[in-house]
Amino acid sequence: MKREDLVHPQISGNKYWKLFFNVNNYLEQKPGKPYIITFGGAFSNHIAAVAAVGYLTGIPTLGIIRGEELKDKWRDNPTLLFARRNGMNLKFVTREEYRHKEKLTGFLQNEFPDALIVPEGGTNEEAVAGVKMMLNDETKDFDYLCTAVGTGGTIAGISKYCEDHQKVIGFKAVNDDSLEKKIRELTPGNNFSLMDSSFGGYGKIKDENIRFINGFKEKYNIPLEPVYTGKMMQKVFELMEKGFFPDHSRVLCFHTGGLQGIEGANLLLEKQNRTLIV
Ligand SMILES: Cc1ncc(COP(=O)(O)O)c(C=O)c1O
Repeated sequence: MKREDLVHPQISGNKYWKLFFNVNNYLEQKPGKPYIITFGGAFSNHIAAVAAVGYLTGIPTLGIIRGEELKDKWRDNPTLLFARRNGMNLKFVTREEYRHKEKLTGFLQNEFPDALIVPEGGTNEEAVAGVKMMLNDETKDFDYLCTAVGTGGTIAGISKYCEDHQKVIGFKAVNDDSLEKKIRELTPGNNFSLMDSSFGGYGKIKDENIRFINGFKEKYNIPLEPVYTGKMMQKVFELMEKGFFPDHSRVLCFHTGGLQGIEGANLLLEKQNRTLIV
């Protein structure tokens, strides 16, 4: 595993690299009144990361959060509480409004012409360029590069900048058939394939996922979270057992961080007497 989760304590994993050029290029433009606006769900690692960027750079941030029902309950959600404590303003919108994010983006860009509006999950061309920095001389030796897939920016960057001999496998946290097209728009590479690793749905946590994540932590002392990296590693292990990777293959899995999500997941799991080891 390549531990991108260790790259920064709050802006962890792929979030650091996806935000790198988005934020730096924006600041180079010297906006009159810097302001960062972005989108996400209640447990979003991206929301937590953008809030931390805001806190660390002194730039005010606004998070557009899916789920109007959270308006009075955000204090019970560790991710949203973290975002607020890092100075992020939160605006809760209905799922229907959230589905039409493009409309919302147009409206926000009009209202805040100087603002940097980062799409959901941070995925855009600048994010793809930033992901290049997850690759280096050491990653060149591997035959397979594995990453979890949410909005597709991370796998697009790996596909675009990896070596010609490398095969990229994306483990989809959400079984969304439109993802492939979206990724192809961001990378010219024909070197990636996608596998469903949603285990019954985005964010759904089965007992087998908990057993795997807790066992992995005990055996390797590497924490995984239940939405992306835990499910990816579980699938990778299944593939190894099935003999998917030819003998002597070198397989590299990116740890894309997001460990902040464990606390929120445990709050839900504890009600069912289930817990993830942190
Ligand atoms: C921990 C973690 N891993 C992987 C991903 C997937 O990244 P992407 O949205 O670029 O596909 C995300 C979502 O951004 C994430 O939070």
